Amino acid sequence: MALGTSERCRSVLQSDIRMMSVECHRLGGINLSQGVCDTPVPGVVLEGASHALSQRQNSYTHYAGIGGLREALAEKYRTMYGIDVDPQQEIVVSAGATGAMYCAFQALLNPGDEVIVFEPYYGYHISTLNALQAVPVFLSLTSPDWTFSEADLEAAVSSRTRAILINTPGNPSGKVFTLAELQRIADFAEEHDLFVFTDEIYEHFLYDGRRHHSPFALPGMRKRTVLISGFSKTFSVTGWRIGYAISDARWAQAIGYFNDLVYVCAPSALQPGVAAGLATLDTSYYLSLSAEYGFKRNRFCRALGEAGLNAVLPQGAYYVLADVSHLPGSTTRDKAMHILRTTGVASVPGSAFFRNENDQHLVRFCYAKDDVVLDAACERLMKLKEMD
Ligand SMILES: Cc1ncc(COP(=O)(O)O)c(C=O)c1O
Repeated sequence: MALGTSERCRSVLQSDIRMMSVECHRLGGINLSQGVCDTPVPGVVLEGASHALSQRQNSYTHYAGIGGLREALAEKYRTMYGIDVDPQQEIVVSAGATGAMYCAFQALLNPGDEVIVFEPYYGYHISTLNALQAVPVFLSLTSPDWTFSEADLEAAVSSRTRAILINTPGNPSGKVFTLAELQRIADFAEEHDLFVFTDEIYEHFLYDGRRHHSPFALPGMRKRTVLISGFSKTFSVTGWRIGYAISDARWAQAIGYFNDLVYVCAPSALQPGVAAGLATLDTSYYLSLSAEYGFKRNRFCRALGEAGLNAVLPQGAYYVLADVSHLPGSTTRDKAMHILRTTGVASVPGSAFFRNENDQHLVRFCYAKDDVVLDAACERLMKLKEMD
């Protein structure tokens, strides 16, 4: 047998997002491609982590996370969402939402299992499913509000369907699933006996008075729902790698075994930092996040319009999909490269989020940037207008 990489390597090739970041760096541009937030980390989170470091909290923690963090999470879900969870048995702290999702898929999906995924999708979800030989089955949401019907759900289900995957608020669409939509999904999951994986990493980025709802909170859903979220976005600590899965104890135990196997534990000195943030910051912190990012959204979307790129205002998260059909190039990759070369602003081609990019001709910009950087990007984008 010749030396070579495994077959599963094909499903985890370098993503377009990374490719655009590399090109942006090479050209010295402003990177609005990656979902890395520049906003400051709350002081209490930093102090909690430095205190833990000064106390030499350097060893492995419990594989499911330190007790204090799991208790703070249980308290958050009780007070904020009316969800009662057992911190001892129903929470697994992992290496980011990404680690939690990977462990949840490992624990609950078999090769060949189909998972219904909404399109546009977050590429990691698809690559993770592919890497584990599960099969994503796509349900295309209808723009501009990214809606779907009961008939769409029924058309996607088969005897091999084991789960449905939601991302609310969504990357890249910004879609915030309404309670009625989640109830439709809950009824469907109940009828076909499916797991529901719900990635809620952008739960605190909500605009125009919208509220976050989790399918976990719907009657009868906790036994089949795996809620995944984390601190990367809420506390601007993408590199700390702390997220979690909340689920019924049976699933949490299996998810925990995989977490132990792959990551052993989340970073020990950083867990007290995010626990301190959870325990200390009140609703006003979370509301101010939405307000601050809502301001950035409005500022950036206005600039897109002025630059001749149509975009529907996102409902949540911190990305916007902009129509680039009129720009030169035959693929959205060409068009994103055109924008980068002419303006020095990097975006992500629609090919990263759609199976057939030409259905939509969209690129995604991330506006989670310092106001100074965002202003500079807005100004640079005007060059697209000048070239019309
Ligand atoms: C939908 C979604 N889920 C998860 C993540 C990653 O979260 P974490 O840093 O907690 O792994 C991202 C990051 O961009 C994301 O967009």
